[in-house]
Amino acid sequence: MSKRIKEITKERYAAVARAIRSNRAGSCCATGGCCGPRSYTPEETAGLPQDLALASLGCGNPTTPADLKEGEVVLDLGCGAGLDVLLSAKRVGPKGKVYGLDMTDEMLTLAKEYQQRTGLSNVEFLRGEMEDIPLPDNYVDVIISNCVINLVPDKMRVFREAFRILKPGGRLAVSDMILLRPVPEHLRHDVELWTSCIAGALIEEEYRSMLEAAGFVDVEVRTAQTLGSENLLDGLSSVELVERVMPYVDNLARGFVRARKP
Ligand SMILES: C[S@@+](CC[C@H](N)C(=O)[O-])C[C@H]1O[C@@H](n2cnc3c(N)ncnc32)[C@H](O)[C@@H]1O
Repeated sequence: MSKRIKEITKERYAAVARAIRSNRAGSCCATGGCCGPRSYTPEETAGLPQDLALASLGCGNPTTPADLKEGEVVLDLGCGAGLDVLLSAKRVGPKGKVYGLDMTDEMLTLAKEYQQRTGLSNVEFLRGEMEDIPLPDNYVDVIISNCVINLVPDKMRVFREAFRILKPGGRLAVSDMILLRPVPEHLRHDVELWTSCIAGALIEEEYRSMLEAAGFVDVEVRTAQTLGSENLLDGLSSVELVERVMPYVDNLARGFVRARKP
């Protein structure tokens, strides 16, 4: 199941990246990503290509709770087209550095094109998986991620890797889909629901206990608004699937998670 989810996730986001490229002025929501309402202010995205803001597939804005400072080293797990990477690069400035990690080649191609258009040089995109991060131990000040951890089958491995590469005192700031209440087991095994950022979401308490088990302290899990049926309709391919999920739509919320490596 895990291998299949990874392959289908990669295929799905490769197709989303191709759709964004061929329809740059359009919204990513038409492409079936994990989109939600825009979480970025015009001031934050000023100076970045307008179509990049529309290419965001996240469910929040992790760069705000990350509280980035000049000169910091940042890693974005599952960076997609790179909006959070480029926003972070502006915040940490030329003395800082921001890495964007993604497993999907088509997303990385898109991200590098956007980087070239911004001229930001304190950025590097890496091809790889969050379960096996291609960076040394104790290397980054801050890890951010936007609507990706829910997509990963082995979340404990991601949390251990995040802990490994953070410097002592380093911070984790993640926007993600979070379950307020459990959903039936059969929905959790649906691959399309998984790649739509629904089936793989953790329950609030699971998120906290897994991060603590990986060694993190000061873990804070906050949920904001629930997904809402209109957003559900955007991402799913069949009426039958929408009908199966609809009774549980209020179980799923956008949220953010913060934690610290001691
Ligand atoms: C929902 S999109 C979010 C993209 C980006 N964070 C944003 O806010 O626009 C999920 C991204 O995570 C990537 N991804 C999913 N699982 C991954 C994994 N295990 N390792 C690395 N990247 C992954 C996908 O390729 C895709 O680009």
